[in-house]
Amino acid sequence: MSEPEILLKLDQVEKRFPGVIALKSISMDLRAGEVQVLLGENGAGKSTLMKILAGEYRASAGTITVRGKEVSTLTPELAGELGIGLVHQELSLVPALSVTENIFLNRLPCDPLRRIDWRKAHDMARRALDALGVSIDPTVEVRRLEVAEQQLVEIARVLERGPRILLLDEPTSALSDGERLRLFDVIRRLKSRGVGMIYISHHLAEIPMIADRVTVLRDGVVVETLPAEKADEDTVVRMMVGRALDEQFPKQAAAIGALALAVENLASGVSLKDISFTLRRGEILGIYGLMGAGQSELAPALFGLQPIKAGGIAVDGKAVHFSYSSDAIAAGLGLISRDRRQSLVPMQPVGPNLSLSWLSRRRLLAPLDLKREREESGRYVRELRVRPSSLTHQLMFFSGGNQQKVILARWMSSGAHVLIFDEPTRGIDVGAKAEVFALMSRLVNEGAAILMISSELNELIGMADRVLVLHGGRVSAELDRDQLSQENLLRHAS
Ligand SMILES: Nc1ncnc2c1ncn2[C@@H]1O[C@H](COP(=O)(O)OP(=O)(O)O)[C@@H](O)[C@H]1O
Ligand SMILES: [Mg+2]
Repeated sequence: MSEPEILLKLDQVEKRFPGVIALKSISMDLRAGEVQVLLGENGAGKSTLMKILAGEYRASAGTITVRGKEVSTLTPELAGELGIGLVHQELSLVPALSVTENIFLNRLPCDPLRRIDWRKAHDMARRALDALGVSIDPTVEVRRLEVAEQQLVEIARVLERGPRILLLDEPTSALSDGERLRLFDVIRRLKSRGVGMIYISHHLAEIPMIADRVTVLRDGVVVETLPAEKADEDTVVRMMVGRALDEQFPKQAAAIGALALAVENLASGVSLKDISFTLRRGEILGIYGLMGAGQSELAPALFGLQPIKAGGIAVDGKAVHFSYSSDAIAAGLGLISRDRRQSLVPMQPVGPNLSLSWLSRRRLLAPLDLKREREESGRYVRELRVRPSSLTHQLMFFSGGNQQKVILARWMSSGAHVLIFDEPTRGIDVGAKAEVFALMSRLVNEGAAILMISSELNELIGMADRVLVLHGGRVSAELDRDQLSQENLLRHAS
């Protein structure tokens, strides 16, 4: 058997940003027909590395060799010519353009009079999406699509260019199981045609499904590249975090205190029909349900983001009615929402992202307390070990786990005592997850009440005192901590 061609070789690649060294020394290679899974905690440098290979960032040092030829400066155009395609983590689509335009941007087919042949273009787009097993109307604007659909359009756009080297940066984070399996079929097909792929994911369970080799990054260096058979979860987690994870679910018993939140016969949105529960200080109440059971509308309804159709909410024994989220914040609620982008001001550093929560309590014309903002930002960045520990970097440069810590810091600084964690670990890595859970334990110990809405069974079992299971917009079971098991939760949910 002949050795497979080396498509890509990196030697001591470095990348510095002002104040941050994202990549210290990256040496690795990629073979034709292999899927190399790239792992690393948030902030390890994975996306930066992909953008360098796609010519979007320029390496500060080191050499990159593509199919035997050293390339000194890689531009997006050159990367394209060399057959390198990148599926971005943050999707790179143009929201106001149609699916077809996004897939074929600048390469739309023309008729002999050089007019765009839209019929042909839409047909081509439809076929490209068919190959991924999805039917999306190619004429609609991308901004009308759901995140999963947008992700599939992004993938189709890159595949349409017929890459020899395909880089996939967390392509499955928004996909359903079915869509993910279909993507794996596509990946296997490309593999058999000799395409080399670097595949980034937080789902360790995907490794045995597609990987040939696994490379682990930590703090901008390659820890190791190993064959997939040797990359069991324990091994790679230890490599990723640089230590054995002491405790994944650092739950502590907390004293149960006064009634903090009472919800009665609540109905809202399309799926939430009739839900009642109470939540006390010191308690973590879990909410579990399968897709569409109503759990995704609970947080918006409680936080004044979505109108209530029936029922009532009481905070600290007083009936409340929130028309805006600022009303909820003023009553002492805090929301860690399932879509971080909705909670953050990405163009601002930590400070304004914290003080945002004080605004609702501030008299309209009173000046914002900048000194307090500075002091509290510094304190929380230290206490919660936010990385980078910078008070000047915009939050858009922080990893998901670190953005999540800043949102938590916001509610800690606002003194919120009823905290709604809506899918709190979505898209964050194992190390940051354990830190978020430790913070939850600390918050309830300090007297907060937590509502934890999660689709991760093991997280609910690890952290909740009680779990309400939803089915068809109603409560189908209430399980105490000693009754929590995967089987039990699933049985009541389905
Ligand atoms: N454009 C940028 N400017 C400054 N720092 C950045 C930029 N992009 C990424 N970083 C920093 O580089 C490090 C690596 O980030 P990233 O490559 O996104 O990590 P990963 O994809 O592994 O989560 C982080 O500390 C991040 O804050
Ligand atoms: Mg990334």
